[in-house]
Amino acid sequence: MFEKNILINRRSRICDEVQSGLIFLYGNNPVPMNYPSNTLRFRQDSNFLYYCGLDFPGLNVIIDTDSKRSVLFGDDLTSDDIVWEGSRISIMDMAIRVGIEESMPTSKLEQYLSSYIGKIHYLPAYRADHINLLKSLFKNNIHTSKELISSVIAQRSIKAPEEILEIESALEITAEMHKLAMQNSSDGVTEQSVVGKMEGYALSNGSRLAYPSIFTINGEILHNNNYHNFMKNGQLLLNDSGAESSNYYASDITRTFPVSGKFSSQQKEIYSIVFKMQEAALKLCKAGNSFKSAHLEASRIAVEGLKNLGLMRGDPDNAVQNGAHALFFPHGLGHMLGLDVHDMEGLGEDLVGYEFGSDRSDQFGLAYLRLSKELKSGFVITVEPGIYFIPHLIEDWASTNKLVDFIIYDEVKKYKGFGGIRIEDNVHITENGHEILGPNIPKTISEIETCMAGNA
Ligand code: GLY
Ligand code: MN
Ligand code: MN
Repeated sequence: MFEKNILINRRSRICDEVQSGLIFLYGNNPVPMNYPSNTLRFRQDSNFLYYCGLDFPGLNVIIDTDSKRSVLFGDDLTSDDIVWEGSRISIMDMAIRVGIEESMPTSKLEQYLSSYIGKIHYLPAYRADHINLLKSLFKNNIHTSKELISSVIAQRSIKAPEEILEIESALEITAEMHKLAMQNSSDGVTEQSVVGKMEGYALSNGSRLAYPSIFTINGEILHNNNYHNFMKNGQLLLNDSGAESSNYYASDITRTFPVSGKFSSQQKEIYSIVFKMQEAALKLCKAGNSFKSAHLEASRIAVEGLKNLGLMRGDPDNAVQNGAHALFFPHGLGHMLGLDVHDMEGLGEDLVGYEFGSDRSDQFGLAYLRLSKELKSGFVITVEPGIYFIPHLIEDWASTNKLVDFIIYDEVKKYKGFGGIRIEDNVHITENGHEILGPNIPKTISEIETCMAGNA
């Protein structure tokens, strides 16, 4: 947990921003996996963590914006609870630990809120138990607070130095996971066994995963969470996986490498395009530039590279404007990163990633751009271009000759079975440009081949 002054200052700042009323933040409860006493791994709500730091289930907090005093609601464990779960510190001691002035049992929450005359601010709920709690507290009249949502987004978007250190500590573990994956992959090995080694490394070093690992020979399936394949020489492996720090900050890294340890010339050609897409995008990652401009520049580099290989034709700017690159690069360049891997997405993807009032494109590809807005010093974002050969999409577009002025389908069809390549890094926007966070993780063709030969 961060020291309590950091949490007190965060709560004071949100009071200044929201200006009036009560702020009600709910913490998470255990979620049953298949029956109540067999629960999914507990993960505290990120907003609750950000303002209160307490990683225990069954807590809620109310912050009074006038007095800046807070009340922690929760119940001490019963004697029976202690038999099954062991003891934990009291609710009063939790409050003291994080600089919260008062504590009360959960049974007092409803009365506390209903006796307040004034606005009660709360955030959108993403779990059924919270939706039910809000319905019962507010008599089915649920109005999330625009002021609170925009103030939380503004505050959490700018990462303080201690948050950057958290992401970097997660990346220390992630770097080892990725190197382990490169060094344990070879012909005949199962994806599952490598995932086990990577995740085992994180767990045995006191870390958990920030999201379900993607580790697959079918990298063209963007969020592929199956690990049942045997890998074969000639195939590529896409590894999108990241650890969480001790204070629950995420890391989110992708590397793509050949099962055999040596890229084929065709794999080198596509890999080099994705590498250049990332380099070009990174050049634009500085305060004042929009992330959309970096996304469009990466897309243009993709078209130039694919033109050189004879898969596309026409003017690259025109191709990007028409969305032709999205056959190969159908997702956005990246997203915010912080306590959540897609940071704050629970508060509304457009509110986090787009300027107020600016329209999100409905063009295939650009529509999936989660972050578009102007970059500010203090943002932490991912930069994750990719090129994929998705058989279903190629057939679908080819069947109507979609954007045939830009796409040479007979050539593209020869790449069905190639898979996909993505390269993803975590980037801190600074006053003067940006820094790539964490230790170097083999990324150039020669770094990857050296690591896979066991020499890294
Ligand atoms: N790891 C999921 C993503 O990169 O968005
Ligand atoms: Mn990502
Ligand atoms: Mn990722």
